[in-house]
Order: sequence, then C-alpha cells, then structure tokens
Amino acid sequence: MSDPQLDTLFQPLQLRSITLKNRVFMSSMTHNVLLARAAGGAGLIIADGILISQQGTKWHNAPGIWSKDQIAGWKKVADAVHAEGSIIYAQVSTGAPGCVTPTAIENPREIIAVFKQAAINAKNAGFDGVEIHAANGYLIPQFLDRTSSHRTDEWGGRIENRSQFGLDVLKTAIEVWSTDRVGIKLNPTGGYNDVRMPLEETLQTFSYFSSEVDKLKIAYVTLVRYAEFLDPIIDGSHHAVKHDVISTYAPLLKNALVFGNAAFTGEEAARYVPEGKLAGVFFGVPWIALPDFARLLQDGKPLDGTLDFTTCMALEGT
Ligand SMILES: Cc1cc2nc3c(=O)[nH]c(=O)nc-3n(C[C@H](O)[C@H](O)[C@H](O)COP(=O)(O)O)c2cc1C
Repeated sequence: MSDPQLDTLFQPLQLRSITLKNRVFMSSMTHNVLLARAAGGAGLIIADGILISQQGTKWHNAPGIWSKDQIAGWKKVADAVHAEGSIIYAQVSTGAPGCVTPTAIENPREIIAVFKQAAINAKNAGFDGVEIHAANGYLIPQFLDRTSSHRTDEWGGRIENRSQFGLDVLKTAIEVWSTDRVGIKLNPTGGYNDVRMPLEETLQTFSYFSSEVDKLKIAYVTLVRYAEFLDPIIDGSHHAVKHDVISTYAPLLKNALVFGNAAFTGEEAARYVPEGKLAGVFFGVPWIALPDFARLLQDGKPLDGTLDFTTCMALEGT
C-alpha cells in the first residue's frame, strides 16, 4: 500500500450479511467482461443491465434472464466470480427506451410481475442479490418524471403516484430476496433518454422517492452524480439537471448504505469514504480500460489506461 490515504477504500465493508473485501466496486456495464474484473480486485460487481424480458430492447445480444438457458449461463458467471472471491449482484432492467414510439403501459402490475420473475431467476442463477436499475431514463425514472409520465391514473400525477411503480418493483424484489439483498441505482440528474424535470421538481421528486426507498430498508442505494459524459447534448445543449446529488440525497438515506458513482477517481473515492460521505464507490469506465483497476489503485500504480471506445459498447447502452 503506497498511499495510506487509500487505506480506508480497501477496508472490508459489511453489506448486511455479506462481507465485501473492499469498497472499490464495479458498476454495471452492458457487454462487460466480469471475470477479469473479479480477479482484478472488485469488492462488489454488478452484472450488466440484465433484461427481465425480450420486449423493448434495441441491443443485439443484450443479456437477459427469462429463459432456462440464460439462467444456466448466469450460474456459470456467478460461480466463477465467487471463485475469484468477489460478490456479484444482478442488475435487472427493462429494455432501453427510445427504440419504439412511446406508448402507455396498460397495466404496470404486469411489468412488476415480470420484475419478480427476473428476481426469482437471478436467485436461481446464484447471484448474491439484485439491483433495480432506476437510473438513466429507464422505466422507473420514466414513471417518476412528470415530463415523461402523462398518466392520469393511480401511477401518474402526484409525486406519490409517480413513485409507486419504482417502490412496488423494490417491494417485489424484497419478497423474493429479503431487504438485505436488494439495492437500487438512482440518477436524479436525469438527462439521459430525454428524461428531466426542472430543478425544483427534481429535488422534490427524488427527495420523496429516496426517503420512501429508505423506509423499505433495502441494503444499499447507489447515487449517480452529475457527469458530463452521461449528459447528452440534445438540440445543441446539455440536458441533465445539475445539482449536488450526494449531499442532497445521502442524508435522507438512514437505513441503506450509500454508494457513489460517476466520474470518481480513486483519490476522490478515498476522500469520500473516510469522511463518511459514502460507504463505497462504483467505478465504470476505469474498469474497461484497466481490468485490474482495484489492484493497481491499491498498489499505487499508475492508472493511465486509455479507453478505446471502439472496443466497447457505445454510451447509448447505459
Ligand atoms: C459501455 C457502458 C455500458 C453501461 N451499461 C450500463 C448498464 O447496463 N446499466 C447501468 O446502470 N449503467 C450502465 N453504464 C453506466 C455505468 O454503470 C456508470 O454508471 C457510469 O459509467 C458512470 O461511472 P464511471 O464514471 O465510473 O464510468 C454503462 C457505462 C458504459 C461506459
């Protein structure tokens, strides 16, 4: 350990009943290569954005978890990650929006049931837990966001109604896994996939949603903060609603561990964790360039791997 400042990042962390060997995690990335990163020292790995059903994806070969073959395939991955001494959660998600003309979902409860089946399948595949993808303009933020949800029924309108879908998805995951094995990934700044509200509404909506999520006593909440590369330029201007995500929402999360994500350097993570602002940090892009990112960081080696985006999926896959 060449930099004592990094020490705390490499202390074990209790994620309820699971002991994580460090606080340097690997964020979910479509089409990633998980095993090399498990060997490279990640304390916790989130597997892809695993589709709960075939419907709605524009990604060829996007991984799913609805068939027996897929479950068997994930079992091999989970077993291999465990053999490397790491922990792996399945990030379950609906397909990426934007591939079809937006249409109202007739009965959200049917989709919640599909999430439940995916959670059951993830358990059968030997994952350690399940992460609900509620970031980057996917279905849960589309329900939450007043500008993308035009519903006038019990799932739309007031903040409480718009929050219900995400909360019910979490409740169904808890039924399958228990509170200890469920996490959620939130990105309140929005922008991605054309989901964004004005700042005041964003603050009200995500403050309410975060507090309600915390009442469910799930194990962790990952807060994705503003990052320019996640903020698409639409009609010539950036789209996300910039605000300090971690200092706004972390204080509302009293039961869940709070993890941070987006554009963190190892050094910055090593400041946030000892200061108690975050229990751990998810890294995404650094793992693509450097499969042994955590080991290099721990050993104080240079972290100057250059990322070749031609060899990984385009950012549209977030
Ligand atoms: C190629 C690629 C694919 C991604 N796929 C997903 C995904 O499936 N689900 C998700 O929640 N985030 C996805 N992300 C976002 C990352 O998990 C992470 O939130 C983001 O890259 C910010 O962290 P970083 O600055 O450390 O990379 C993806 C990012 C990249 C670069």
